[in-house]
Amino acid sequence: MARTRNNTLKLKFDSARKLSPAPESKGAAKIKPRYDLFINGKFEKPSNKKYFSTTNPATGEKLSEVADANASDVDKAVKAARVAYEKVWKKMPATERAKYVYRIARMVQERARELAIVETMDGGKPIRESRDFDIPTAANHFFYYAGWADKLEYAFPNRNAKPLGVAGQIIPWNFPLLMAAWKIAPALATGNTVVLKPAETTPLTAMHLAEIIQEADLPPGVVNIITGAGATGAALVKHPDVNKIAFTGSTDVGKIIQRSVADTNKKITLELGGKAPNIIFDDAPIDQAVEGIVNGIFFNQGHVCCAGSRLYVQESVMDEVVRKLKDRMDTLIVGDPMDKNTDIGAINSKQQLDKINEYIKIGINEGYDMYQSNCSLPGRGLFLRPTIFTHVAQSSRIAQEEIFGPVLTIQTFRTDDEVIQKANNNPYGLSAGVWTDKGSKIFNLTTKLRAGVVWANTFNKFDPTSPFGGYKESGYGREGGLHGLSAYISF
Ligand code: NAI
Ligand code: MG
Repeated sequence: MARTRNNTLKLKFDSARKLSPAPESKGAAKIKPRYDLFINGKFEKPSNKKYFSTTNPATGEKLSEVADANASDVDKAVKAARVAYEKVWKKMPATERAKYVYRIARMVQERARELAIVETMDGGKPIRESRDFDIPTAANHFFYYAGWADKLEYAFPNRNAKPLGVAGQIIPWNFPLLMAAWKIAPALATGNTVVLKPAETTPLTAMHLAEIIQEADLPPGVVNIITGAGATGAALVKHPDVNKIAFTGSTDVGKIIQRSVADTNKKITLELGGKAPNIIFDDAPIDQAVEGIVNGIFFNQGHVCCAGSRLYVQESVMDEVVRKLKDRMDTLIVGDPMDKNTDIGAINSKQQLDKINEYIKIGINEGYDMYQSNCSLPGRGLFLRPTIFTHVAQSSRIAQEEIFGPVLTIQTFRTDDEVIQKANNNPYGLSAGVWTDKGSKIFNLTTKLRAGVVWANTFNKFDPTSPFGGYKESGYGREGGLHGLSAYISF
């Protein structure tokens, strides 16, 4: 039996590896050697003339350099946003505002191929994901919020919703363009102006978005995009003329931001880390559940705040689930993100790879059973095999802390109450997954799991119409849907 299985597995593995290369063409996207700051509708040099490089994590090669904005550049961007807000944007009829947001959506769509290539080269995610998920979902956010711009009185009847003013937005490196869209679209639709800071390892699609915004003829200063690292983000958070901070990133930085706005009246939303339980009951459709486990933890190399990184399997199906999961892992192709066959691309940065490897070492040292697929890895670049640990203790650091990589911990459970308790026994509360044939079980769990999003018989499903956000150390405030509008208005 084991032998037959190994043979089938080997066949699957070989056929996966024998796919001939199908690389997307780099030529379809133009990356400039240098990008300046996008302030008041123009590209401007940083005042300290400093730039830093962004590289391709799959090859190590330098792609471009971007400006390192200091506090005086931040001030310039905030001033431009303030003037645009007072003089143009807040006075503009909502139907006109909607047209601009709609135009940006169309242009993102038109330039989708270019944006997907740039996203994949700058960040390391498989082209299939940037092409089929990141860029279309980014366009959808602009389309969706364009639709709300002139309907705020229906969204909030008789409440006279007003914009907040200037929004400072800081985004991470795991879904660069999507996070930019996620933040800019609702801000513009509600009449706010924006200063956005992309993450330092993935600034390039934001700069392409700046070009789109310029071409869309958005009034100068309505959206400003400034590049830089943590210090640039901190200067934006501290700027006295910013009315709202929207942050997605690590819980540590979220706490710093919360402290620094504590004695101001800035509004704030924090979308932070996660350690989502993905729960498989014995009556679940196991093959589909295995696909959901793979999608939950290996999508975007596991660099996903809502990744299903803690797997809970009902004891009676544990062996079957783990066996099928290992088989499936062996078919995953890890490699060149630009290849259309690739399932798992490059780890975003050396720093992140080191962090993930550190956690793998902790898991090994604590004595858990580790399994890694035995696929080949490219000779250069930052890559990691998909990794699982079985029979992990609930108290283990690898089951409690966010690893943000393709590493899954697996535990068993026997009863509903036990798994609810285990799932909630974690500092985070962003998302969760439940796999079962029984609707009643789904309803029972969704009401008891402390998670902002609970997926049933699916995982990592996103839609602009549905709100997203966390409890506990995963932050607060909701983005997406109608809820996402209320984060940018006052009454
Ligand atoms: P990070 O939280 O430092 O970076 C996110 C953004 O915040 C970047 O644009 C960064 O420049 C900016 N930033 C950094 N320090 C800041 C400060 N003091 N004030 C204002 N903005 C600041 O995340 P990092 O260091 O890249 O990743 C570390 C860990 O954080 C990851 O291993 C992962 O566990 C977690 N993370 C979670 C994300 C999520 O979506 N929940 C996204 C990125 C990281
Ligand atoms: Mg990069």
